[in-house]
Amino acid sequence: VCRHRGARLCNTDKGSLGNIVCPYHSWTYSLTGDLMFAEHMGDQFDRCKHSLKKVHVENLAGLIFICLADNPPADFSVMRAAMEPYLLPHDLA
Ligand code: FES
Repeated sequence: VCRHRGARLCNTDKGSLGNIVCPYHSWTYSLTGDLMFAEHMGDQFDRCKHSLKKVHVENLAGLIFICLADNPPADFSVMRAAMEPYLLPHDLA
């Protein structure tokens, strides 16, 4: 969600884009989540303090796992080793 007023930034199941542009007031984020553009915020506004929140992400054979905790589970590699042989033949990616 947007760091401005919490508007949803992605409303589609799939696709691609160059930058992430909020549909509400057009705050624009890079694909790494850095806030690049925020109109009408004044000279004192520090864009660096309003980047998107970071989350931990793992791609397991096309299944995306997101962890909101500060420290993600340390044993994800165990699950990857167990599940990947079964998932890869399905070409989920
Ligand atoms: S809610 Fe996203 S720019 Fe305002």
